[in-house]
Amino acid sequence: MPIVSPSLLASDFANLQREVEMINQTEADWFHVDVMDGNFVPNISFGLPSVKAVAKHAKKPLDVHLMIENPDKYISAFKDAGADYLTVHYEACTHLHRTIQAIRAAGMKPGVALNPHTPVSVLEEVIQDLDLVLIMSVNPGFGGQKFIEMAVDKTRKLKALITEKSANTLIEIDGGVNTDTGARLVEAGADALVAGSFVFKSESPAATISDLKGL
Ligand code: DX5
Ligand code: ZN
Repeated sequence: MPIVSPSLLASDFANLQREVEMINQTEADWFHVDVMDGNFVPNISFGLPSVKAVAKHAKKPLDVHLMIENPDKYISAFKDAGADYLTVHYEACTHLHRTIQAIRAAGMKPGVALNPHTPVSVLEEVIQDLDLVLIMSVNPGFGGQKFIEMAVDKTRKLKALITEKSANTLIEIDGGVNTDTGARLVEAGADALVAGSFVFKSESPAATISDLKGL
């Protein structure tokens, strides 16, 4: 049974409290919150005040995905805003090891996200320090994009690396997840599934979340 983390990027921002309370009532495990800066990715989304607003109503952990340059500058601010998991992009961190330690020292669970072109092997030396690795199965920046098939194979490779290193790292997949791609990802070793449009654009988000939990 995978961890399901609905992405609020696809929710109705004008009714954020209602959306958060709706997810509180479902089988979802986490809230996935996408933070974009318009530099690392060609889009702008949530910022710190919005994360804080979500945290105020959320009854489940906040899985915060930073798609920003220089994430080190904001680590303590995201802790204050209520983040539980804080995931930074490998491609945005020159001193990744230091960033991971800083996230843990701030009292959060560190995660690292990999863009579609980044191989899992770049994490060999830090995998044991990570609570989570997020495999991007679309190019980051937008919801509703087509799933990149390569992510299934990448999940398998990451699972092998985690097993080889006896690490306790969770594998999370983000982008184009639905029950079809989700089933194949779980089979390949995924622990957590992020789903934005598949959940929020469905007739019954609660039933859709239930379907994902059933994979
Ligand atoms: C994209 C974000 C995703 C996005 C996924 O950059 O990281 O979390 O919300 O959206 P779907 O599930 O619609 O592909
Ligand atoms: Zn995301």
